[in-house]
Amino acid sequence: MEKRAISFAQDIRPLFRPVDVQHMAPMGVLLDDNGYMSDPQNAQVVYEYLKGERQPQMPPGGPYWNEEQLQLFSEWLAGGRQP
Ligand code: HEM
Repeated sequence: MEKRAISFAQDIRPLFRPVDVQHMAPMGVLLDDNGYMSDPQNAQVVYEYLKGERQPQMPPGGPYWNEEQLQLFSEWLAGGRQP
C-alpha cells in the first residue's frame, strides 16, 4: 500500500502549540498558516530554528521537537510541502 503524503493540516500544524502560534504571529511568523508555511524559504527557516541550526533554538527554552517530529517536518519539506 502506498504511504500517504505528509500533510501540513494533518501532520505538521498539530505539532505547534497554541503558545507557539500566538508568540510568533506578531513577529510575522505564521506557524498555523499553510500559505505562509508552504513558502519554501519560510518552511526551511522554521525547520532550521526547530533543529537549532539557527539560534535561539525554538521554542525558546524548549521543549524542543524530538527526532520523530523533526523527521516528519523534514519529510513534509521533501514531499513538496503538501497542504
Ligand atoms: C522563522 C522562524 C522563527 C523565528 C525567526 C523566531 C524568532 C523568535 C524570537 C526572536 C523570539 C523572541 C526570543 C526571546 O524572547 O527570547 C521568539 C519567541 C518565541 N518563539 Fe519563535 N521564532 C521562529 C519560529 C518558532 C517556532 C517554529 C516555534 C515553535 C515551535 C517558536 C516558538 C516561540 C515561542 C513560544 C516564543 C516565546 C517565548 C517566550 O516568550 O517565552 N518560534 N521567536
